[in-house]
Amino acid sequence: ETKFTVKSFLESKKKNQKITVLTAYDYQMAKLVDEAGIECILVGDSLGMVVLGHDSTLQVTIDDMIYHLKAVSKGSKNALIIGDMPFLSYHVSPKEAVKNAGRLVKEGFAQGVKLEGGVEIIDKVKAIIDAKIPVLGHIGLTPQSINMFGGFKIQGTSKSQAEKIIKDSISLEEAGVFGIVLEGIPKDLADLITRKLNIPTIGIGAGSGCDGQVLVINDMLGMNTDFTPKFVKRYANLKDDIKNSVRRYIEEVKNKEFPSEEHTFSVDNRILEKLY
Ligand code: KIV
Ligand code: NA
Repeated sequence: ETKFTVKSFLESKKKNQKITVLTAYDYQMAKLVDEAGIECILVGDSLGMVVLGHDSTLQVTIDDMIYHLKAVSKGSKNALIIGDMPFLSYHVSPKEAVKNAGRLVKEGFAQGVKLEGGVEIIDKVKAIIDAKIPVLGHIGLTPQSINMFGGFKIQGTSKSQAEKIIKDSISLEEAGVFGIVLEGIPKDLADLITRKLNIPTIGIGAGSGCDGQVLVINDMLGMNTDFTPKFVKRYANLKDDIKNSVRRYIEEVKNKEFPSEEHTFSVDNRILEKLY
């Protein structure tokens, strides 16, 4: 297999080949999804909810991101590794945005970074790209804005919202991003943007017309015990697999079935006799 790069993103769109992206947050999962052939691994700030148990992504820090990026980059060989810039790590100034994006690259081994927002953050996006760090855009239902949206609400359903999202996508392409995540918007709007842009769109809850798709790995493996959004497809039911395995372990330890002979070490009796 060959290394997937930001150039491969553009080539895939030209060749009309869908781009596959999944999140991962640790070494073993990164290794599995990489070996299975995923093209891009996103170390998303969704780790705040999925791994750390926060109720939004707003609490995630740059240090959290670096910790998980390091583990993921060790596990991955061929996938492109993108790290999310967490809330407030890029909003204050272009200078701070470059510094924090640089930390994800230098300390976390990210090969690119993702920022939420459009026109309002374009000076930061440009500054990061000027520092030769590839940027993936992210617009639509951007979870770092939930306090402005009033919750996790589908975006782009009104004319003014749709117009804003289209403007954002064009301005991000002009700034030089290598792709844009479209999250939680109607399919027709995502299709329109996908046709309009030369760079690929990566959809999550944005329909089948996008140039690629991304899902949160824990969601698609069915590990989530709480709530499954409409746009998630469960390819496995690890939640039940894990719970049932743990129940069996408890039962077997309690009734002395585990460990059995095959999981047990032995030593010549004569060696221990002298110790009695
Ligand atoms: O944090 C994340 O996992 C994301 C993807 C869902 C796009 O931003
Ligand atoms: Na994110």
